[in-house]
Amino acid sequence: MSENSRIEGAIHSAELQHAGKRFALLTIDFPPINAGSQPMRQALLDAISALDPSQVDGVILRGAGNNFVGGADIREFDAEAKEPHLPEIIAALENLPVPVVAAIDGAALGGGYELALGSDARVATPNAMVGLPEVTLGLIPGAGGTYRLPRIVGVPLAIDLITSGRRVKGPEALKLGMVDRVVEGDLEEGAAEFLAGMDGKRLLRQESVPASQEGSIQSAKEAALAKAKGLNAVAAAIDVIEQGAVKSADEVLPQEREVSLRLRRAPQSQALRHLFFAERRAGRIDGNPKSLNVSTAGVIGAGQMGRGIAFALARAGIRVRLVETNEAQLSAALTAIGGYAEREAARGKESAAQIAGRIEGASLETLGDCDLVIEAIVEDMVVKHGLLGKLEQVVRKDAILASNTSYLDINEMASVLRDPSRMAGLHFFNPAHVMRLVEVVRTDAASPETLATLAALAKKLRKLPIIACVDDGFVANQMFAAYRQQAEFLLQEGAMPREVDEAMREFGMAMGPFEVSDLAGLDIAWARRKRQAESRDPDARYVEIPDRLCEMGRFGRKTGRGWYDYRENKKGADDLETEALVIESSRTAGMDRRSFTSEQIVRRLLATIVNKASDILDRGVAQQPGDIDLAWVYGFGFPRLKGGPLHWARQQDRAQILADVEQMVAASGKGFVVSPALESLLSG
Ligand code: NAI
Repeated sequence: MSENSRIEGAIHSAELQHAGKRFALLTIDFPPINAGSQPMRQALLDAISALDPSQVDGVILRGAGNNFVGGADIREFDAEAKEPHLPEIIAALENLPVPVVAAIDGAALGGGYELALGSDARVATPNAMVGLPEVTLGLIPGAGGTYRLPRIVGVPLAIDLITSGRRVKGPEALKLGMVDRVVEGDLEEGAAEFLAGMDGKRLLRQESVPASQEGSIQSAKEAALAKAKGLNAVAAAIDVIEQGAVKSADEVLPQEREVSLRLRRAPQSQALRHLFFAERRAGRIDGNPKSLNVSTAGVIGAGQMGRGIAFALARAGIRVRLVETNEAQLSAALTAIGGYAEREAARGKESAAQIAGRIEGASLETLGDCDLVIEAIVEDMVVKHGLLGKLEQVVRKDAILASNTSYLDINEMASVLRDPSRMAGLHFFNPAHVMRLVEVVRTDAASPETLATLAALAKKLRKLPIIACVDDGFVANQMFAAYRQQAEFLLQEGAMPREVDEAMREFGMAMGPFEVSDLAGLDIAWARRKRQAESRDPDARYVEIPDRLCEMGRFGRKTGRGWYDYRENKKGADDLETEALVIESSRTAGMDRRSFTSEQIVRRLLATIVNKASDILDRGVAQQPGDIDLAWVYGFGFPRLKGGPLHWARQQDRAQILADVEQMVAASGKGFVVSPALESLLSG
């Protein structure tokens, strides 16, 4: 047995006998997922070199634990690739005179699946998960994946699999040819049996690609490019796959490697990796407190948000009691949930009846067996206090309570409870069953277990939790409010809504700020401004255009008019009345209107976001810069390929960003300052 213990794992070598044949068994044991780190690659190469092929009839390669090789060690991607490289290891496998079988359980992804493709055959358990997901991190496979996969599945399917990064489970992988056999029983036994039946080497690099139907390559390319959304890795992958289909391995493999490394150093991959790590860090609670399991939950309020939340819970297998005071509203909610369930059933494993069947209309008194209750009733402190007081009488002592409030002070809300440590915020975005972002809002009294339970629940709902503190609009809405306010300043100084929206869309935002307002409804922000009217500094700059629109009953798309006019044009036409309000606003403020270039608009709004983010982090409202980027990407359609506003800002010239922020502060007037933490944030 050869072990390499100075690193985080080892390759175990053993011998296996089957049907009178002797096989070497190499087990990759690099917890937790046998990732292809430099130490793992070195140990594997050493173990292959140490084999004496004259003593064995074949080699079985497998992973210890629940995975084959989960993928590359992405932490290494920021530095130069270190030797030995994966292609060398694959070459060593190919050069062995005896056949090699990859025995796959769990994940064989990216480099892991390339290792399997470099073997002479692949057997897998039904639990295996194979694929080449490199493009999801902005690069392409770099160890022959684009050359070998088309040789088993054909060029059109390889284009689809590689450009989507789709992960394929054992049985489907067998159907597609990605593995040669699925073993139901013992994997080693099954691999040995398969190997015993092989009559020598079967190198994919020596095979040619199967013929494909006329036109199918072209349609696969078109479909992939249509979904690429600016991701450079897609076109690059198609190019290498097509070259690989007609050229020799010796010509194409070095080229594939070169393109892969180039893309890995490029900004898109850096941005996607930044988000990947930010996601992994998000929602962690200091000290790793234990979280309680939630199997039955109450949702109070079956309006816009309550119904989406109830559905998201039921979809994750949780029983839901939905409490609503208004009968008609409850029945409308159950009908809407039925519709969500139908759509889910078309894609998922469960039937609509199974999912929706977990939700029942209920009264407050029946919430005694719930592990958790989420309130999503009207945004009114007095009403919420009344509800919470009653709720605490009925729920179990250890039940967790959460509020979906957007803006109210949850510390104040929890103050009516005898045990405020059981309460925190769980702020979903609309529509709650669709949007991935969720804020777990830490109150002063919330216990670590309460927060951990809510963060774990969010993950169970397939959502992305970030931790926020109680503050007006928490993290996400507070930042968006600053962004929207600045967009309104631009109108007053000379821009028109269309110019601002177009500039931000050109930058890559899914929608411009005024388009978003029209979609979300102008009345929500209006209600908030009215609440704040008394405490507002009368000398602070205030743009009253959206108030005027609301007074005219123009709440956005739902009323046919908002910033734009939707009555005849579904996408929204420019509106002369809006333009008149904009010009009138400049006049009343005594401002000479000036013109803005798209770049000036983008710089001004990004400077606002970055400065606000710095302020929020400095005051401890947000926990870490990565959370801000996630909030923008998953809450407000910031372009993923730019990695979020803070990642973007850190890639820019620092002096330029600081100058942009100073200009923005100067233009915005009273109450605006450059965040004292900005410089260190930008250099972080
Ligand atoms: P909504 O007005 O659509 O629904 C509220 C529902 O609660 C109504 O059906 C009402 O009949 C019911 N209700 C009121 N008092 C009740 C009580 N004591 N017991 C049971 N049901 C009661 O409101 P929406 O938009 O769903 O908002 C709910 C909460 O979610 C608010 O706190 C809001 O700030 C927050 N929120 C709203 C978002 C949105 O985009 N609409 C986004 C994120 C949070």
